[in-house]
Formats: sequence, structure tokens, C-alpha cells
Amino acid sequence: AVERTLSIIKPDAVGKNVIGEIVTRFEKAGLNVVAMKMLHLDDDKAGGFYAEHKERPFFGDLVSFMTSGPVVVQVLEGEDAIAKNRELMGATNPQEAAAGTIRADFAQSIDANAVHGSDSAESAAREVDYFFAADEICPR
Ligand code: CMP
Repeated sequence: AVERTLSIIKPDAVGKNVIGEIVTRFEKAGLNVVAMKMLHLDDDKAGGFYAEHKERPFFGDLVSFMTSGPVVVQVLEGEDAIAKNRELMGATNPQEAAAGTIRADFAQSIDANAVHGSDSAESAAREVDYFFAADEICPR
């Protein structure tokens, strides 16, 4: 089915100047960018986004990393977009990410792991809404 998913290009990847290379991978895989913006998250916006991890020991580090520089948030649309994006990203820990995935090629560590992608239809709906108003999404 045609789905939408939220993608975030994280501060490490923005800092390495690989926004375009990452977006190209989405496009080549048949995902359409239907919304996109650059933001510098503050503690509230990053903490709210990752609210489900609030009790995890890495939450503080995660929020400080995600607020350390600008990010690019996008809505990707396409057939099986949620799973397709997760395949392109590779495992959360870049040390475990398959060769040729975004995290294997661009990420350093489990915190500085280049990209985020929604993990289910429920989180995709919540995450897209968290960053984009309906009139900021431009289906093609
Ligand atoms: P992301 O997909 O953005 O979702 C939560 C983030 O927390 C994850 O990517 C990692 O960057 C970060 N993180 C740090 N430590 C862990 C951990 N032990 N397990 C899962 N995620 C972690």
C-alpha cells in the first residue's frame, strides 16, 4: 500500500554535508519527498518527539545530540514507505547495519546514527503530525 513515513536527517549527517546523498537514496528507491524542512530542535521539541524513550538511560544523550545542530525532517511517500525507509537506513546501531545502508555508510555511533525513520504505521502518523501541518504536505 502507499504509505507515508517520517524521516529525519540528524545533526551528524547535516554536519557532514550529506543531505543530498541521503535524499538521493530515498528518491532512487522510489520514495517521493512530499514535505521537507530544516529545523534546529530545542529540548522540548526533541524530547516530545522521543517521549516514548523518556525513561530510557540514553534519553538525555539523545536529546542533547538531536539539539546539537540542525536537522532535516521529511515526509516520504510511496509503496511500503515505512519498511522501505527502514531497509535503506539499516540497523539503529551502525556497527550492526548491513553494508550499503545509510547508517553503514554515514553513521558513527548509536547516537550519531545519521537518520531516524518511523517504525510503524502508528508512529508514522504521529511523527508526521508532530512536524507538519496538513497544508505543508504536497502529494504528487
Ligand atoms: P532513532 O531511530 O532516532 O530512535 C531513538 C534513538 O535513540 C535511536 O535512533 C538512537 O540514535 C538512540 N539510541 C541511543 N542508544 C540507544 C539504544 N541503546 N537503543 C536504541 N536507541 C538508542
